[in-house]
Amino acid sequence: MPEIDLPQRQVTDALMLTGFWYRALPGDRVHRNQLCKATLLEIPLVIGRDRVGQPFALRDACPHRGMPLNCGRFDGENLECGYHGWQFDVHNGQCQIIPSLTADQNMKVDRIYAGSYPCDEQDHFIWVYMPDPAPQGAGFGPPGEAPEPSPELEKFSSKYKMAYLQAEMPVSIDHGIIGLMDPAHGPFVHQAWWWRSRHSIHEKQKHFEPIVNGFRMSAHTPSSNSAPYKLLRLYADADSISTTIDFRLPNIRTETIRAGKYWFSSLTTVTPITRSRCRIDVVAAWNLFRWVPFIPEMLKYVFAKFVEQDRRTMELQAEGLKYNPHLMLIDDADRPAKWYFQLKAAHLEAKRTGTAMKHPMQGPVTLKWRS
Ligand code: FES
Ligand SMILES: [Fe+2]
Repeated sequence: MPEIDLPQRQVTDALMLTGFWYRALPGDRVHRNQLCKATLLEIPLVIGRDRVGQPFALRDACPHRGMPLNCGRFDGENLECGYHGWQFDVHNGQCQIIPSLTADQNMKVDRIYAGSYPCDEQDHFIWVYMPDPAPQGAGFGPPGEAPEPSPELEKFSSKYKMAYLQAEMPVSIDHGIIGLMDPAHGPFVHQAWWWRSRHSIHEKQKHFEPIVNGFRMSAHTPSSNSAPYKLLRLYADADSISTTIDFRLPNIRTETIRAGKYWFSSLTTVTPITRSRCRIDVVAAWNLFRWVPFIPEMLKYVFAKFVEQDRRTMELQAEGLKYNPHLMLIDDADRPAKWYFQLKAAHLEAKRTGTAMKHPMQGPVTLKWRS
């Protein structure tokens, strides 16, 4: 039987879910008329801003012979490849000029495209939509449209402060995400004299419910040993404080804490850079203490500390994961991690069969653990 050669075969990769927006770079790192490199889902990208500041994202490989486009020349509108000078419109990737063509060679230059990705700027970050299926090899068409806008951090008043943090970790997105939703590591990883010690561990019970593409830790009074809660207690009485935490595929965790007119909101993503590397980006906004000068710095310090503790832990974990040990997930503390894997499986199955996604949770669930 002859073998079927499928050079562009799409392998469904559970570590690289396409058809979603991903955070690529903090917006303040990308300046006008300038080119930056980023990698998302093992795809090298060149990201920049045009003359008016509008961001764009192209595959960082010229469709002619693969030269990285980030080494080219950019005039704020077109990007010229450094190898043979082909020029591309940065927003749709369309080829404008092939300098080697003579006047009587009527090659249809405008039918050639560099791979171009929908790009958006939201809450301090440049987001890139990774289409599904991924753009084909050389000579891609124009970029598709993203079916929905990029995710936005929820805000509850017109005035607020905002900050972001990021950390890169040498583990797969899966370990990044389940580390993020794991309630049991707190007392061991996040110790600090001003925060909590491992002796503050106590039994907790939390309610969860299914939401589209994910699950929610239902609104509840936050743990008395959590930092935002301690801060909020200074401003509002304990009963009025409620927090909601959502996780949504492919990689989004949102946390909303409300206390009367005060609020704190964060949107954290874990982005696959390669199969074995991910990056965590936390963007937070709040309207507490806006007028107290050092509080934003303090909040940022506290968060940076937590993220660094997580990063350091995952760096060590990567050592242990090197030779593929057997791992386990236990109830109830690792149940959110199980839901994450089940959600991904359900999502991929729905895509494969073209049917609606079957949510792994049938209804509300209460989980108990000590942390
Ligand atoms: S490789 Fe880019 S123009 Fe030839
Ligand atoms: Fe953590």
